[in-house]
Amino acid sequence: MSSGSSGSSGAGPGFDTVLVVDFGAQYAQLIARRVRECRVRSEIVPASIPAEEVRRMGPKGIILSGGPRSVYEPGARLADPDLFGLGIPVLGICYGHQLMASTLGGDVARGASGEFGRTSVQAQGPSGGLLFEGLAGTQTVWMSHNDAVVAAPSGFTATASSPASPVAAMEDRERRLFGVQFHPEVAHTPNGLDVLKNFLYRACDCLPAWTPTGVISGAVEAIRARVGDARVVCGLSGGVDSAVAAALVHRAVGDRLTCIFVDHGLLRAGEAEQVVDTFGGHLSMDLVHVKAADRFLERLAGVVDPEEKRKVIGFEFIRVFEEAAVEIAGDAGAAPFLVQGTLYPDVIESGGSSGVAARIKTHHNVGGLPDVMAFELVEPLRDLFKDEVRKVGEELGLPEEIVWRQPFPGPGLAVRIIGDVTPERLHMVRAADAVVVEEIHRAGLHRRLWQAFAVLLPVRTVGVMGDERTYGNVVAVRAVESEDAMTADWARLPPELLDTIAGRIVAEVPGVSRVVYDISSKPPATIEWE
Ligand code: XMP
Repeated sequence: MSSGSSGSSGAGPGFDTVLVVDFGAQYAQLIARRVRECRVRSEIVPASIPAEEVRRMGPKGIILSGGPRSVYEPGARLADPDLFGLGIPVLGICYGHQLMASTLGGDVARGASGEFGRTSVQAQGPSGGLLFEGLAGTQTVWMSHNDAVVAAPSGFTATASSPASPVAAMEDRERRLFGVQFHPEVAHTPNGLDVLKNFLYRACDCLPAWTPTGVISGAVEAIRARVGDARVVCGLSGGVDSAVAAALVHRAVGDRLTCIFVDHGLLRAGEAEQVVDTFGGHLSMDLVHVKAADRFLERLAGVVDPEEKRKVIGFEFIRVFEEAAVEIAGDAGAAPFLVQGTLYPDVIESGGSSGVAARIKTHHNVGGLPDVMAFELVEPLRDLFKDEVRKVGEELGLPEEIVWRQPFPGPGLAVRIIGDVTPERLHMVRAADAVVVEEIHRAGLHRRLWQAFAVLLPVRTVGVMGDERTYGNVVAVRAVESEDAMTADWARLPPELLDTIAGRIVAEVPGVSRVVYDISSKPPATIEWE
C-alpha cells in the first residue's frame, strides 16, 4: 500500500457560525463551548486572523476573547482593525473589550485599581443596552482585570458600570459592536449565558440549530458528499470517540462501512463482548472482530519497559489492522476511506482548522496507519468537543456504557501490569479491575470520576489468610477526578467504599493479598502507572 492522504468531513455547512478570536488565555475554548450551549456553532481562530479571511469565512458574529496581557504591553496580541468594519457584529470580552475600545479611539486606563472575582455591574440608560435586555438592572458578574475602559469610543454608549469600571459594558448599536469587561462565559456570572444569547440571537440573528439532531444531519450530509459511493473502514476500540464516529458514518453510508475491531486481548472484563454485541448485534454493522490476543501476548513476553510495551503493541496493532483492511479491500474492491475520531480540541491544539486534517492522532490505536495505507480520512467528529460527542452518541442510540465510558489507554491493561505481562497477571488485573468498576458504578460515582481502575504491582508481600502465611501480589486502586487529564486529583473515595473494594479483591482474585490506594495527584504523578 502506498502513502495516504487526508481530508475531513465535520458537521458540514448550514450552521450559523460565530468566530471566537483567541487572545491567549484559556477563555477562548470556554467561550466557544458556551456559544455551542446556546446552540450556535462556534469556531476558534487565532488573534492574527486577517479581516479578509474572516469575511471569506462568513460568520454571523465575532467574539474577541479575554487575554493575559494589557493592550499597551509590547507584544500584546492585537486584532486586525478592519475586523470592526466588516459589518459583522462583534462582542469584545475583557481584553477583547479593552482592545475594541483602544482600537476605535476610546480610553483604556493602564493598571487601574482592577477587579478580581465577583462584583456587581449596574446597567445604564433606559434599556440597559442590547446585551442586558430581559435582565435586571443590577447583575452579579465575574471580573479579572487590571486595565479598564474609562471612556468609550465615539459612537458608543456605556451600558453598564461597576465600582472600578466606568465602562463595564458598551455598545454601538448601529455598527453592532459590543463590549463587556466581565466574563459572561464563566459560571460565576450567573446570567452570563443570557448576555451571550442576547448577542447571538438579537445582535447576530443566529439560528439555534446546533443541536445533536442538527449536528447529526449536517455530519451525515458532509460524510455522504465526501465519500460518494466508496467503501469506508473504521477501527473500533471500544472507546466513545471511535464508537460515535462509526455510528455516524454508518448512518451516512450504511453497509458500505466495515468496522474492524482489533481485540488485542488487553481489554477490560466484558469489553470485547460489549463491542461485538453493540455494533455487530444491536446496530447491525458489518463488523470484523479480529481476535489477536495470542499474537499480542507472544510479542509482549518479557517486555517490561513501559515505552517498549507501547511500541510493541502499537506496531502489532497496525499490522493486524492492515491485514484485516487488505482483506476487506480484496473482498469488496478498494476501501479508500478511513474513519478517524479526531475531536475539535485536537484540531485547535494542532493550530487551527486549516491543514490539520493531515495530522493523525499519535496515540497507538491508529499511529502511523495512513503512512502505510492508501486511505483518505473521514473525520466526522472534528467539529465537536467531547461533551458534544457524548450527546451525539446518545442521540444515535448508543448504549450508556459506551457513551459514558471512562477513558482507557490504547495499550490497555498492559500498562496497568507493572513488569511482565503474562496471561496469569492479565487475568489478575482484569478481575481486580472489574471489582473496582462494579463498585464505583454501584456507588454512583462513575460519571464523577475521570477514571477508576486497578493496577497490578510487581512486588509480593507477606500476609495471613486463615491460619496460613501467604506471599501474595499487591493491587493498587487508582481513582482520579479531572477535567481533561492534563491535571488530576486523587479522588476522596468514602472509606467504606475502599473497604468494600479491597475486601472483594482479596476475596475474589486468587493470588492477591494486599490492596493499596494511590493518593498521588497529577502532577507530579501521572494518571496511569506506566
Ligand atoms: P497519564 O497517565 O499520562 O494519562 O496521566 C493521561 C490520560 O491518557 C490516557 N493514556 C493513554 N491513552 N494511549 C492512549 O490512548 C496511551 O498510551 C495512554 N497512556 C495514557 C490515560 O488513561 C489518561 O486518561
